[in-house]
Amino acid sequence: MNQPVNLPDVELDDSENTPSNKSNNRPFNEVLAANMKRRDVMKGSLAVGATSFFSAGFISDAEAQDGIGNNIRFRPVTLADAAAGDGKMPLISPDYEYDVLIPWGDPLEPSGPAYVERGNTAAEQARQIGLGHDGMYFFPLKEDVERGRMRRMNQRGILCINHEFGTNFHCLGKDLPESLEDVRFSQHVHGVSVVRIEEIDGTWQTVDSDVSRRIHVNTPVEFSGPAAGSDLLATPNGNVPLGTVNNCGNGTTPWGTYLTCEENFNGYFGANNEEETWVPTAEQERYGFSDTGFGYGWHLFDRRFDLSDPDYRNEDNRFGWMVEIDPHDPTSKPIKRTAMGRFKHEGAAWREAANGQVAFYMGDDQRFDYIYKYLSARPWQDMIAEGVSPLDEGTLFVAKFNEDGTGEWLELSPNNPNITSYDTLEEIMVFARVAADEAGATPMDRPEWTATAPDGTIYCTLTNNSQRTEPNAANPMAPNPDGSIIRFKDNDVTGNSFDWDIYLIAADTHGTEESFSDPDGLAVDNRGRVFIETDGGQKDGLQDQLLVGNPNTGAVRRLFMGVNGDEITGWAHTPNRKVAFINIQHPGNGDPSETNFPASPDGVTIPRDCTIVIRRKNGGPVGS
Ligand code: FEO
Ligand code: CA
Ligand code: CA
Repeated sequence: MNQPVNLPDVELDDSENTPSNKSNNRPFNEVLAANMKRRDVMKGSLAVGATSFFSAGFISDAEAQDGIGNNIRFRPVTLADAAAGDGKMPLISPDYEYDVLIPWGDPLEPSGPAYVERGNTAAEQARQIGLGHDGMYFFPLKEDVERGRMRRMNQRGILCINHEFGTNFHCLGKDLPESLEDVRFSQHVHGVSVVRIEEIDGTWQTVDSDVSRRIHVNTPVEFSGPAAGSDLLATPNGNVPLGTVNNCGNGTTPWGTYLTCEENFNGYFGANNEEETWVPTAEQERYGFSDTGFGYGWHLFDRRFDLSDPDYRNEDNRFGWMVEIDPHDPTSKPIKRTAMGRFKHEGAAWREAANGQVAFYMGDDQRFDYIYKYLSARPWQDMIAEGVSPLDEGTLFVAKFNEDGTGEWLELSPNNPNITSYDTLEEIMVFARVAADEAGATPMDRPEWTATAPDGTIYCTLTNNSQRTEPNAANPMAPNPDGSIIRFKDNDVTGNSFDWDIYLIAADTHGTEESFSDPDGLAVDNRGRVFIETDGGQKDGLQDQLLVGNPNTGAVRRLFMGVNGDEITGWAHTPNRKVAFINIQHPGNGDPSETNFPASPDGVTIPRDCTIVIRRKNGGPVGS
């Protein structure tokens, strides 16, 4: 067995802060700066909605008469509330209440292995809730949908939840694994949980069920689409495809499946490279692979993650995909959909075209990386009827934002003459970032989640980018250390032109009750309310938070605030929207001196990621 090497002190989920895009495409911040100057907006205003094409038509007249102009009526968590707390426990609006669901280590089903602090085996962890709670979706049971049982659909279902990451410090209590058992434990806290939940006597809880399952780094998966049979996805030793990792944002499909997004997959690979036998290819550099990765050390005991092991060449190409999971069929394998391209996937909001084709809008979260769109080849219902996945036959595009508020979708296929490094679609999908560089995409400020508004507008969080090169004191985007939210709308979902606009710039909220930074998780409800979740250093004495925005008025209100060291992630809701689910991710970064949540403060209990069940006390929809 190889001896552990000294790994640098890397912050585990920070790799997206290091740009790997060396193309010369004009950075989005330059495009945005020019656009903002032209419009002369944002002077003391939170929203540009009033001056934009988005202000018309995103709500119906009936909803407007219903008072949607004031549709956020709850009393917020205030800066004073935050200042009075110590960050050990969350705060929620006085008009709301919350419960804790499925903390890390709880058994997936009540009959499964119980959580024992630092006392569970890797095999037990594979039957327990993982760490790094992130993207989610609540699926009502098929039988309830088919029989039209509305009440049951809001009382029970299947929660699919991503487990993005857990540091070695948090899950193992040490900085490096010391055995294969340690590596397996770490691998089993990553992935996805499919978990059957139900409201019993007013409390949401897990129940025993055949559909509940853990999907992790060692779960068999399959590939489909243009690159499925590619040599680029085959290893010399022929090992079967296994696992999904760093599952961050998520999406769903119109046909009722779950999409989980593989984000910082590069950081789990390393190289036992004493002989310097591994030298990264240009593509491996573009995707950020290195000798040490993020410090997980899996490669020290698991050859599959050793980039220098010739038997496992190309294993790295098997990660970075959009993965489809059928929540209702526990025997189905997760499927990596190669037609949607390989990059650091973050979110997959969909919108249906008038003719039934379906588009998915996806971010690639790294400084100066891109926003993508995938369009099914034909109407999705026809494809499903033919037995063809709408995610296997279609076209991938990447966004170019023009200075005049318009944009173009650039095709990533052999049809694009600007793509010169690759001749085949399979290569373009595996190395989509490089193809997008050559196509001339616009480098963005770390695209995170996407969300579809009722009028078809796509919102996308751009979490931050402090490396902007054109500082401009009058323009909050120069630099952009605190992030922004952009929105765009295709003129025709099947076409390649769109219009775009800026919804919010985080720096403009600082010093006000609406203060937030680093927008990341994102959702828009059926009334057009925007749910914003943050990841990173908040200003004005705040912890990471969930806010609700009304794009019509520009108002933003704080619904929930987390604990020291955490991040607020994920969004799911019951069909009637009276119950919402969010997550507290990496509370205290695993340090009991920061917080012990969900345990009450005691200074010693290890904090655990968990889902937060949110309800309005008056029974209204969450967000109102
Ligand atoms: Fe995992 Fe881009 O946040
Ligand atoms: Ca994220
Ligand atoms: Ca993030």
